[in-house]
Amino acid sequence: MCKLALGGGEKTVKESKEYGVPLVAEETYSVIEEILRSGQISVASVTGQLEREFAAYVGTRYALCTPNGTTAIQAALFAAGVGPGDEVIVPSFTFWATVGPVVVNNAVPVFADVSLDGHNLTAETIAPHITKKTKAILLVHVWGVPCDMDSIGALAKKHGLKVVTDCAHAHGAKYGGKKNAIVGDAAAFSLQASKTMPGGEGGILVTDDREIYERAVALGHYERLGGLPPDSSYNSLSLTGGGYKHRIHPVAAAIALGNLHRLDASTAIRNANAARLEEWIRDLDFIVLQKSPPKSGRTYSYHYMRYLPDGLNGVSTSTFLKALAAEGVLCGSCGYGRLHTAPLYTGEGSPFGKAGPFKNPYWERYAPTRELPNTELLAQTAFLAAPRFEYADEKDVELYAKAYRKVRDNVKELTAYDKSHGEAFIDNAGRSINYVK
Ligand SMILES: Cc1ncc(COP(=O)(O)O)c(C=O)c1O
Repeated sequence: MCKLALGGGEKTVKESKEYGVPLVAEETYSVIEEILRSGQISVASVTGQLEREFAAYVGTRYALCTPNGTTAIQAALFAAGVGPGDEVIVPSFTFWATVGPVVVNNAVPVFADVSLDGHNLTAETIAPHITKKTKAILLVHVWGVPCDMDSIGALAKKHGLKVVTDCAHAHGAKYGGKKNAIVGDAAAFSLQASKTMPGGEGGILVTDDREIYERAVALGHYERLGGLPPDSSYNSLSLTGGGYKHRIHPVAAAIALGNLHRLDASTAIRNANAARLEEWIRDLDFIVLQKSPPKSGRTYSYHYMRYLPDGLNGVSTSTFLKALAAEGVLCGSCGYGRLHTAPLYTGEGSPFGKAGPFKNPYWERYAPTRELPNTELLAQTAFLAAPRFEYADEKDVELYAKAYRKVRDNVKELTAYDKSHGEAFIDNAGRSINYVK
């Protein structure tokens, strides 16, 4: 008689619950109605309100909304002075949108490895890639775990580099007890629907640096140039801006504002439930929890771990995830870690050729495919371990812990299944989450 649900046994998590909060806060419906009735459906006061409140929330001098997180990264890099031919050190273990904007700015991404502990770039993995052409380090606080800002900041200072951060996963995360300590010189947040402060689409750039803020305004917000201080060198661009239009839709800003108001509350529930699950399964030999650096305060925007096949009799990642999913665990494989091999960057098989549609003239001197052993290992073994649990209670989380233990307790049965069904390589489409159905 099979015990594992994978072989027809009883499922551990029987009810497939919705653990996330509704994407639109209750307070937002009337705000949106007001926006629609007022006719402020392009330039609207709600955008300024979101910027003021988000800057106060993070603790930076400036915040600037953009149409999405990708454009916020593009603007942050441009505003930090990244230009044609500059090298920017980036992770490959991230979503494509971290790195694409480097190419859009005609700069050159230089892929560095991440640590197996934090899944993030570290001072040690970045340092070997610094050259005379390096202009900036582009960090991602992946899954909500902050990078080690002290050591990376010290390295950047030593070499005169800017630190730009992709905070798409890091709304409310802290370093040294402060939310603004994860920003670096400029940070880009995403407000896309799957994030913890969604607006549907949208992004926000934050910075303390007046020059960076004004350059970002000049790049994509021509209508605001008149509002810069009279001594701003960007006033002369008021007719044209910098050639882009980076305005958020006011309805998206309103949705994000409502979600900002409940962000701390939902983060507290997510973090408490994630900590419970980790406490209950941390002794299992086949998982390694994502580790946060000292002084950091993560947010569980995504709850990823690393699978260790050796701890489960060599069972493949795919069989392990299938067994969890059959028990009712919402889990998934990871689509990160392949950017350094992608046609956009290698040129192989790309209709655009090397360096993408912009025919980046600076690309040729680089050999973008590097060996990134930790990144490659994580691409095959990092897995989404649990949902956000924003509505879950202790009992729900306990069932998840039971499911993990059940898989461990039935390793013989699992090994037999793996021998006939196991897939050696997980081929996913490069998406952040690939749920196992
Ligand atoms: C790590 C990371 N960076 C950047 C982005 C891009 O944000 P957006 O989709 O808002 O453009 C996302 C998510 O989509 C992301 O997960």
